[in-house]
This record gives sequence, structure tokens and C-alpha cells, in this order.
Amino acid sequence: MSPRGPAGPRAARAPALVMGAGAVGCWIGGCLQADGTPVTFVGRPRVLDALRAHGLTLTDLEGGTRSVPPAALTLRDSLQGIAPPALVLLCVKSGATASAATELAHALPPGTPVVSMQNGLSNAAAAQAAAPALSVRPGMVPFNIAELAPGHYHRGTTGVLAAQDHPLLREWQPRFAQAGVPLQLHSDLAPLQWGKLLLNLNNAVNALSGLPLRAQLLQREYRLCMAALIDEALAALRVAGITPAKLTPLPPAALPAALRLPTALFRLLASRMLRIDAKARTSMADDLVHGRSTEIDALCGEVVRLARRHGTAAPVNERISELVRSWPSDPRPRSGAELRAALGL
Ligand SMILES: NC(=O)c1ccc[n+]([C@@H]2O[C@H](COP(=O)([O-])OP(=O)(O)OC[C@H]3O[C@@H](n4cnc5c(N)ncnc54)[C@H](OP(=O)(O)O)[C@@H]3O)[C@@H](O)[C@H]2O)c1
Repeated sequence: MSPRGPAGPRAARAPALVMGAGAVGCWIGGCLQADGTPVTFVGRPRVLDALRAHGLTLTDLEGGTRSVPPAALTLRDSLQGIAPPALVLLCVKSGATASAATELAHALPPGTPVVSMQNGLSNAAAAQAAAPALSVRPGMVPFNIAELAPGHYHRGTTGVLAAQDHPLLREWQPRFAQAGVPLQLHSDLAPLQWGKLLLNLNNAVNALSGLPLRAQLLQREYRLCMAALIDEALAALRVAGITPAKLTPLPPAALPAALRLPTALFRLLASRMLRIDAKARTSMADDLVHGRSTEIDALCGEVVRLARRHGTAAPVNERISELVRSWPSDPRPRSGAELRAALGL
């Protein structure tokens, strides 16, 4: 798949560990493993059994396919007796960060580098607090990964992985690039994390719509909801003096107006700036369907807290958080008009 480069002979490659083998962990870890970096996947029986049975298949919206056979996968349901990795990719959902980091702290030598590949703003700090002896850095995954079938993970959008700069991560950059997941390093990741969070505000809209991402974004009523959530976040960021990074061809401040365009115009604009295939869906949608707790508090909740810290409010983000939390007692997809009404728009 990828050219040999400066990362050295395959046999000498230092191992990586994915903590939380799910969509993101199987995708990024799978790309590294497919390129010859030994990766240990630590995860739950549901995922590990599928990998044992089917191996790992990675597809993407450019039409690429890679696969790793079961025999080439190192799968563990705990960290017990694990060989110390050179790099840990922390890929659990926000609600599992503290417990996963505590497990890592008990199993790994002090100083082991950990990159949080999670959404939101607070996961790296939460992991560092739970594992003070490890060296945790925030990362940012800009693209969408969906599990299409057991062991089959699909990247349905585009973007470049990012992480906070660290000398060790510079050493890993050629390996990530060779594996087809280039990693950009930044001295301050917070603007990128906020830029990503603005886009992730749609996760709640998408989850409540019950639709795949592309189909949901092509309905204006849903886009009006997303625009209102982003408006509030931009207002809170302005008051806080934070400038979010631009992760799409449009600057963050222009996103709400673009989302409010009539669908024919939005479709035209999106065809030039957004690549989302019909298979992409958000992990929050999966969480609601499977009755798992969601990351709503790490996404819309982060906006609510930022607004409050600066003496303002983010009522639309508060309301949609409530709707997501109340899904188990009222598990019914909302039409765009129903969602707008429920958000008071
Ligand atoms: N999917 C995407 O498109 C995407 C894109 C960008 C960023 N992200 C972010 O990446 C993070 C991971 O998302 P994801 O979609 O990959 O989640 P996921 O598919 O749910 O994968 C996480 C896996 O880790 C498992 N896990 C939790 N605690 C564990 C532990 N202590 N030991 C072993 N396994 C553990 C989970 O099991 P349980 O279900 O039992 O907890 C789950 O199977 C989130 O912060 C998400 O927002 C996701």
C-alpha cells in the first residue's frame, strides 16, 4: 500500500498499543499494523471476537481497501502482562477515559507516551490526572470512522490527524505517514480541538435524526439546528478569547451562514468543500442505538460550561444535551421540524 521510507526496517519497529479498540482505534491502529508496525489492540470481547473471526478490513471514501488477517492481530482483553509499548493511542469514549488511564497507569512504565485520539477538550487532561506518571498528549481525529460490519471499519470523510507536539511523536511521524494516516504536530492543539468540536456539535443533531450523516446534512431543518449550536459556541469562544482553527475550506465564523443556505445551494457548496460518503454516521448515533452513554457532555456540554464560565449561556446546547440524555426514555428519531421546535428555534 505505502512506500518504504525513513521509518526503518519493519522488524525493528517499536510497538504501539491501542487502548480501546473501537472505530478510531481499529482504524488508526489497523493502518499502522497493515504497514508493518506491531500494534496490540486492547478492547472488549464484542470487538475482539469479531477481529478474531474476520480480521480487520479498512476501507475509505477514496475506494481504498486494506486488510489484516486474524493471525496478524495481537488482541488483548486487558493490560495484564502486556509488553511495554513505545506509544499508546487512547481511543476510548470520554466516559471511559479515567478508568482506561488508571489501567494504563498500573500496567505501563512511567513516562510512556500516550496520545488521546478522542473528541472534546478535556480527555487528555482527564487521562493525565488519572495517570500522572504517564506522558499524555492531546490528539485530534478529524475524519469519521464507522463500523460497517464486524471487523470492517470505514473512513467516510477526510482530514489529517493532529497531536500536540512532542519529540517522540516527531519520530513517529514517518510511520504514520507511511501507514496512510499522516500526523501533524502543533504547539497548541486547543484551537484545533475547538475547531473540531464546532463540527462535532452536529453529532447530537445527527444522533437524534436517526439518519446517516450525509442524508441528515442535506436536510435544511437539521442544518438550522446545527447552525444555532455553532452560533452559540462561536459567541462563547469570542467572549473567552479563543480562536477556533479552520478545519474546513470555510472559516468557522462562516459555517452557520453556509448551513442556513437553501439545500440546493448548500449541496453545491458542500460538493466543493465537504467529502462525506453515504456510509458515514456519527458514533453518538451508534451510542443511542446501542443504549450506551454518549459523549454529549464532552461536546455540547463543553460549550455550556465555557459560556457559563464567562457569564453567558448556551441554551440551545443545553436543550439538545437534555434531548440526548432523555433518549433512553423517549427513543424516537426526530424530524428536522420536530428537532427545531424542541430546541426552541
Ligand atoms: N468514530 C469516529 O468517527 C470518531 C472520529 C473522531 C473522533 N472520535 C472520538 O474517538 C473516541 C473513540 O470513539 P470511537 O467511535 O472509536 O468509540 P468506540 O467505537 O466505542 O470504541 C471504543 C472502544 O473502547 C472500549 N473500551 C472502553 N474502555 C475500555 C477499557 N478500559 N479497556 C478496553 N477497551 C475499552 C469500548 O468498550 P465499551 O463500549 O464497553 O466502553 C469500545 O469498544 C471518542 O472520543 C470519539 O469522540 C470518533
